[in-house]
This record gives sequence, structure tokens and C-alpha cells, in this order.
Amino acid sequence: MASISDIDKSKLPRHVAVIMDGNGRWAKQKGEHRIFGHQQGVASVKEVTEAAAELGIHYLTLYAFSTENWNRPKEEVDALMELLVGTIHKEVAALNKNSIRLQAIGNLKSLPKNCYTELMDAIQQTSKNDRLMLILALSYSSKWEIIDSVKQIAEKVKRNEISVDKIDDAVFSSHLCTKGIPDPELLIRTSGEQRVSNFLLWQIAYAELYFTETLWPDFRKENFFDALLDYQNRERRFGKTSEQLGNTGIKI
Ligand code: IPE
Ligand code: IPE
Ligand code: MG
Repeated sequence: MASISDIDKSKLPRHVAVIMDGNGRWAKQKGEHRIFGHQQGVASVKEVTEAAAELGIHYLTLYAFSTENWNRPKEEVDALMELLVGTIHKEVAALNKNSIRLQAIGNLKSLPKNCYTELMDAIQQTSKNDRLMLILALSYSSKWEIIDSVKQIAEKVKRNEISVDKIDDAVFSSHLCTKGIPDPELLIRTSGEQRVSNFLLWQIAYAELYFTETLWPDFRKENFFDALLDYQNRERRFGKTSEQLGNTGIKI
């Protein structure tokens, strides 16, 4: 397993996104209820957030609840929302201590009122922090985000605020929830599933994908370092050839 000293600090991704998956299976393996898995997953969130801050990564986006997750049994959804409110409330002091700024993306208005209020409070209370931006994807789906962006742009065209031929990558990006945030260079998914599940479809156009069998509640700093080390051994070509990049080896 990798340790922090194995990571080349000059080749860090600016933004890492994580699909935190496998809480339910982890709990089931232990003969526990799925909700126990979600509770244990909070420790992994803290570990990875700390590791990202220690390394000097600037943005960490965690997929915590998808639009599709609303279709889970009510008992599980309620428990997840409660866990979210409780965790945010408990962790604000630690976020401030470590200069971590909280942000959220998704259809936040669809969250229960107490959840929304707690989240907005924490975002406001941590807004001056500048070491790491921790972005929680909540009630998030990429297709929803893209459609929402299209609607905003269409409205602007209708009001003659933007002409159709001016719509480009930058204009489109600036209407997404992630406006102002660089695209993730690395996307990690735990639990062995190899799919994107409606997460940051536009933003991961050129991300390196890293899949691990480790279930989210077992994911520790060392697992995060493993993913970063793997990333640092990729060659990111962006359509070019190795030779054009002046590379003989495979390092990024
Ligand atoms: C990820 O773990 C957490 C959320 C989606 C909220 P899961 O709850 O999806 O766990 P599995 O995939 O059923 O094991
Ligand atoms: C994706 O995990 C959403 C989150 C991690 C919050 P799921 O476990 O819900 O994804 P699918 O449904 O198995 O693709
Ligand atoms: Mg899952």
C-alpha cells in the first residue's frame, strides 16, 4: 500500500472526484443493516478529506446522494438525510480548524428543510477557508445538471443576452453547478462497480478513471494514496501521441 511519501507533490491532480460506493454491501457482510454501513462510511469521508488537505489537493468532490437514490426505501433515505445533518453539524469546527471550505452541488432545494438549512449554514460558516474545497454532490445527477444548464442558456438566448454562436465549452461550463471549479483529473469509484452512475458526465470528459474493489467504509488514506500513485503513472495524452508529449516512458 502506498504512503504519503510515495506521492509526487508536483504532479497532483487539482481536483479528485469520488463515487463512494459499497456501504450497503459492507454492512451486509457484517450481518448489519445497510444504515450501519452509511454510518461507518463517514469515517472514510473524514480520512480522504484529511489526506487531500494534507497533500495540497485543492478540490475534492464526493458523490454522497444521487437523484436516483431518492428511490431507495424511505427508511434508508431518512437515515441518510439524518446522517448528513448530524455529520455536517458535528464537523463544521474541524473544517474551520483545517481551513476546508464546504460546497455542495445538486438539486439542493429538494433536500429536507433541516438538511438544506444545516448545509447552507456550514457553507456560509466555512466560506473564508481556502486550503481545500470539499464539494458534496447531494440530490445530484449529471443529466439534471446538464438540462438545467441548457434551460438557463436558452432563457438567455431568448432575452438576447447571449447569441447562439457564442455558446461554447466555457459558456456551457459556466452554467453548470461546478462553475468556477476545474474539471476533475481523477475519478475514483469504490466497491468494484465500473460505471459512472450519472456523475459529472460533462466534467469527467478527460478524467482518469480508477476503480477499486475496496468497499467505501474500508477506504483509508492509504487507499487514496494508491489511487493517486496509479494516476501519477498514467500518460494523459489528450488526443496527442506519446512522442508529441516528448515522452518515452509512461509518466504523466
Ligand atoms: C453508497 O453505498 C452510498 C450511497 C449511494 C448513498 P451504497 O448504499 O450504494 O452501497 P451498496 O452499493 O448497496 O453496497
Ligand atoms: C452512486 O451509487 C451514488 C452515490 C455514490 C451517492 P449507487 O450505489 O447509487 O449507484 P448504482 O445505482 O449502483 O449505479
Ligand atoms: Mg451502491
